[in-house]
Amino acid sequence: MSDTSDTSTLRTLPHGGYLSGTLRVPGDKSISHRALLFGSISEGVTTIDGLLPAEDPISTAKCLREMGVNISPIKKGESVKVQGVGLDGLQEPKDILDCGNSGTTMRLMIGLLVGRKGRHFVLTGDSSLRRRPMKRVSQPLKLMGAKINGRSDGNLAPLSVKGENLHGAIIGTPVASAQVKSAILLAALTAEGETSVIEPARSRDHSERMLKAFGANIEIGGEMGRHIKIWPGSKLQGQSVVVPGDISSAAFWLIAGALVPDSSIKIENIGLNPTRTGILEVMEQMEADFELLNMRDVAGEPVGDIQVTQRGQLKPFILNADIMPRLVDEVPILTVAACFCDGISKITGANELRVKETDRLSVITKQLSSMGAKIEEQADGLTIYGGNKLHGCSLDSETDHRIAMSLAIASLMSNSDSTLARSEAAAVSYPDFWDDLHKLRKQ
Ligand code: S3P
Repeated sequence: MSDTSDTSTLRTLPHGGYLSGTLRVPGDKSISHRALLFGSISEGVTTIDGLLPAEDPISTAKCLREMGVNISPIKKGESVKVQGVGLDGLQEPKDILDCGNSGTTMRLMIGLLVGRKGRHFVLTGDSSLRRRPMKRVSQPLKLMGAKINGRSDGNLAPLSVKGENLHGAIIGTPVASAQVKSAILLAALTAEGETSVIEPARSRDHSERMLKAFGANIEIGGEMGRHIKIWPGSKLQGQSVVVPGDISSAAFWLIAGALVPDSSIKIENIGLNPTRTGILEVMEQMEADFELLNMRDVAGEPVGDIQVTQRGQLKPFILNADIMPRLVDEVPILTVAACFCDGISKITGANELRVKETDRLSVITKQLSSMGAKIEEQADGLTIYGGNKLHGCSLDSETDHRIAMSLAIASLMSNSDSTLARSEAAAVSYPDFWDDLHKLRKQ
């Protein structure tokens, strides 16, 4: 993602029309990163079908290739082969590892590298990633003997990781973050002794599911699966991974389909892991008309199709900290939905949104307010007054992919076209978003 505003990429966001058709969204970003990472440290070949061919997983693949992993080219519609180097086979890279815009790449990579004794790594990223907190990962890893240094007492990239022999630990994570949990689990694979991770609330569990499938010795327990134990010693074995569509990308169409008059969309092959489906619970609160179809299990993850149809006025909703881990990436598009609900919606317990690719509470408030929305920002959330008419204006993604796509849906509901600066941000997670919008939108 480019760091500076570039008016040459101004895109017109159309207003009006309706959305109709059937589509598949690209592969799940979280599962794509993990398939590349776990495949790299396995024995033998991992074949990945449906891998997300977007900037974030490409950053992960690039870092892994620099450490000697052979990964076939990542192209839309083609399966990707990862030739594993084994648990401790990663080589010291000859240059800085560039994680681009991807927090998942950097945080999981730190966990992967801290236990690589005798090798030294430096990780950096774009200007957004260099502002994001890394202490949430480095602090618990230090309890295992990790050596991580960087600006602001090891909180900000560029970060230096000096590989060490690690020991297991019992770690309570301060935030329910799958990135933090996964970094610890990766480090634990080569630590001495057992490691326990206890989360304040359960975050997405793709790492646990996939590590189990690859043969790791891992046990999930405690209330709601918040307590994970992992033991070193088992070699990971290359697998066939099938990546379902990303519910966080489907979210834009789910909301648009429920919101834009006369719309009806079927989204096929969506990952419906219960740690990710908070948006469906909110759509129920909004009394949106949607149906889950063809529910199945694909390579250890629940998958289904969703038919969503616009029918009447949506009801306002209330979100709090309990549901946040299950919809953390969907807050910007849910804020758009709230602008058109019949009453006042309230989002609380959303502090994490302030340390995403941008401060999403502040950026979505600023951008939607410039279209005429009435939103009040609190430290940990938003109060959104539904029912104000939106008008077209000059918008800016501020380099954030989910803001760019959320604003495109807001524009459909406004009374004139808008322009969007830095619209190319969408390519971080959904390179074909603009084409899909064009295909679905009818006049
Ligand atoms: C992700 C976890 C979430 C999410 C991010 C992807 C992952 O972040 O926001 O887009 O793949 O583990 P946190 O774990 O920090 O909440």
